[in-house]
Amino acid sequence: KTKVLTGITTTGIPHLGNYVGAIKPAIEESWRDDIQSYYFMADYHAMVKGRDPKRIHESGMHNAATWLALGLDTDRATFYRQSDIPEIMELNWILSCMTAKGLMNRAHAYKAAVQQNVADEQNDPDFGITMGLFSYPVLMAADILIFNAHKVPVGQDQVQHLEMARDIAKRMNHNYKTRFVLPEAVVGEETAILNGLDGRKMSKSYDNTIPLFVPEKKLLKLIRKIKTNSLEPGEPKDPSTCTLLQIFSAFANEEEVLAKKAQYEAGAGWGDLKNELFEYVNDKLKGPRERYNELLQDPAFIEAELRKGAEKARAEAAPFLQQVRQAVGIKGFV
Ligand code: TYM
Repeated sequence: KTKVLTGITTTGIPHLGNYVGAIKPAIEESWRDDIQSYYFMADYHAMVKGRDPKRIHESGMHNAATWLALGLDTDRATFYRQSDIPEIMELNWILSCMTAKGLMNRAHAYKAAVQQNVADEQNDPDFGITMGLFSYPVLMAADILIFNAHKVPVGQDQVQHLEMARDIAKRMNHNYKTRFVLPEAVVGEETAILNGLDGRKMSKSYDNTIPLFVPEKKLLKLIRKIKTNSLEPGEPKDPSTCTLLQIFSAFANEEEVLAKKAQYEAGAGWGDLKNELFEYVNDKLKGPRERYNELLQDPAFIEAELRKGAEKARAEAAPFLQQVRQAVGIKGFV
C-alpha cells in the first residue's frame, strides 16, 4: 500500500491554508483502500516557534479536534501526537548524525531568521537562533522516514523540507544498509499557496489567517476583509489570482467553480462575491464546526483517540527503529 503522511505544527488554531494545503487532501486520501495514512500533531516542532506551554498543549487539542470534526476515520488512518512516539526523537538523532550542516544552512526558515538579523551565534536563545530552529528539517525527516511514507501532502512552503528529507534518506541508504523510502511532496496545483486577508501567504506568523472554525459572524467579517482590487461591479475580473475563488474552490466541485469563474468574467461585484462565498463556505462548515466545538468540550475523548493512534504508530515504529539501530551499529546485535 502507498503510505501517505502529513503533520501540522501545534502553534495555533488551524486555518484555511492548513485545510486547503494539507488537511483536506489528507482526509480524502485516507478514504482510499490502496492507501495507508498517518496524520499527526507536530508538537515538538511547535517548541521551535513559541515558548508558551499552554498554547502548545491547547493547540494540539484544537488541531486534533479539527481532524476529527472533519470526519477523519481513526480506524483507517493512524492519528497521533508526535511526542507520543519516542521512536521519532531517537531516529531524529540518528539522522542528525548523517545530515550535513551545510544542507541545513540552506533551509528557508533558518535563512529567513538570519535575514531578519537574528544573530546566528548569539549565546542566548531569546536573541539567537536555537539549534531547534536550525535542525527543524531533520526532525521533519524523522517524522516521515520512521514510517517510510511515500507521499506527503503539503503546501508549497514545505517542499524544500521534503527535498531535505529525501536527501537525508539517500545519505542513510548510501552509508548504511538501510532502505528508507524516498518521500515525495504532493502539492495541489491550485492550493499550493492559499493567500490570507492581506494577499500574502496565509500564515500564523503574518496574522492574516481565517481560522477554519471561527463563529459564523466572525467568518463573515473576515471574508469581507479579504483584500481585492478596485474593479467596480460590471467590470470583468480575473478569477485566476483571486483569494476568494481559491477559497471557494477548496469547498466546491468543478462544475461550481466553472460557474463561479463565469460570474467573475461577467463582472460580478466584490461585495456580492464575498457574501456568496460566505454563504457557501459557511453552509459546508456548519456541521463540522458544531462537532468541533463539542469535541473541545470532551478532551478525554480526544486523548483516547490519540492514545489509540500512538499505540498503532508505535507498533510499527518500534520494530523499524530496531532495524535502523542495528544498521548503524547500535544495540540489537546478537
Ligand atoms: P504548518 O503547521 O506550518 O502547516 C501545516 C500544513 O499546512 C500547509 N499550509 C498551507 N498550504 C497552503 N496555503 C497556505 N497559506 C498554507 N499555510 C500552511 C503547510 O504547507 C503544511 O502542509 N513543518 C510542518 C509540519 C510538519 C510536517 C512534518 C509536515 C512537521 N513534520 C512531516 C509534513 C510531514 C509545518 O510547520 O506545517
